[in-house]
Amino acid sequence: MEDDVLILAIESSCDETSAAVLKNGREILSNIISTQIDIHKKFGGVVPEVASRHHVENISIVIDEAMDAAGVTFDDLKAIAVTSGPGLVGALLIGLSTAKALAYAKKLPLIGVNHIEGHICANYIENKELEPPFVCLVASGGHSHIVNVLGYGKYEIMGRTRDDAAGEAFDKVARAIGLGYPGGPLVDKLAMEGDKSAIDFPRAYLDGGYDFSFSGIKSSVLNYLNSAKMKDEPINAADIAASFQESVVAVLSDKLVSAALEKKSKYAALAGGVASNTRLREVLKEKGENKGLKVIYPSPMLCTDNAAMIGCAAYYQYLKGDLSDYTLNAVPNLSI
Ligand code: KG4
Ligand code: ZN
Repeated sequence: MEDDVLILAIESSCDETSAAVLKNGREILSNIISTQIDIHKKFGGVVPEVASRHHVENISIVIDEAMDAAGVTFDDLKAIAVTSGPGLVGALLIGLSTAKALAYAKKLPLIGVNHIEGHICANYIENKELEPPFVCLVASGGHSHIVNVLGYGKYEIMGRTRDDAAGEAFDKVARAIGLGYPGGPLVDKLAMEGDKSAIDFPRAYLDGGYDFSFSGIKSSVLNYLNSAKMKDEPINAADIAASFQESVVAVLSDKLVSAALEKKSKYAALAGGVASNTRLREVLKEKGENKGLKVIYPSPMLCTDNAAMIGCAAYYQYLKGDLSDYTLNAVPNLSI
């Protein structure tokens, strides 16, 4: 173990308290995720103050579990990594203060990691041969970006959402058709029983660049529901879910494939919670492989928030000496 770089990573940017131990960036020794979904479900979304309180309660337990499951002690570690943003400020601060306290007490370097960068790096864990450059779509509850990954820690943002994030659109549509929270996985599941060409929801290609907009399709679904209600017509939730998903998936996959081709990337990669969407994976595989691209995405557990992806990003920062000091703070709108 002498030459191996073992990093303890902590993630608490939203409603998952997670800790992981990574070996040399790409090997997961442990990845413990304590989700608060059941707590926030009854509110229909994440309540920031409630999330912070649950992070406080869980973080030490999750870290102990991650260390035990990895079979390591603090003496084996080379650094402590933590998400510093973007995310909910109160939630981020719990991870940050814990990481700082541990780094100080154990005399270990501290590494602040960008959450979006973590999502992209999740692809390195299961694709051992993957090296930059490559083009990646990051689509989660808070972000939708097409990123040209130029090198480790070097990114060019090719496009971003102008309004809602893709996951946010899934969550809002899910709520409108009476599904629970988080909506993405529920829409994904219900869509399997629906007709994806039943309703022609708009597809926002905008000016043909790589930016996204999801507020129009969300309004269109709401208008469709209102109009059915006014006319006292029954709705078919599965058809709405399938048609909505098909429109979003078409735009996401078309833009990602075009961006990858423009940059002559060998890969079209997905990352973030929405990357676990069954139909997005299916459509992207078909479109991407038709154009000679290698389509990759992390397994679902590494798409949604987890500390392993933070540990992977931290490893490449460690190699470059990109460390943080104790002034490291939570930056809710941190960009890459
Ligand atoms: O990456 P993530 O766990 O948290 C953020 O950084 O935001 O992403 C959560 C988002 C939620 O909006 C959730 O509804 C969406 O990802 N999501 C999905 C699926 N699984 C999670 N959206 C569509 N299909 C899915 N299967
Ligand atoms: Zn995330």
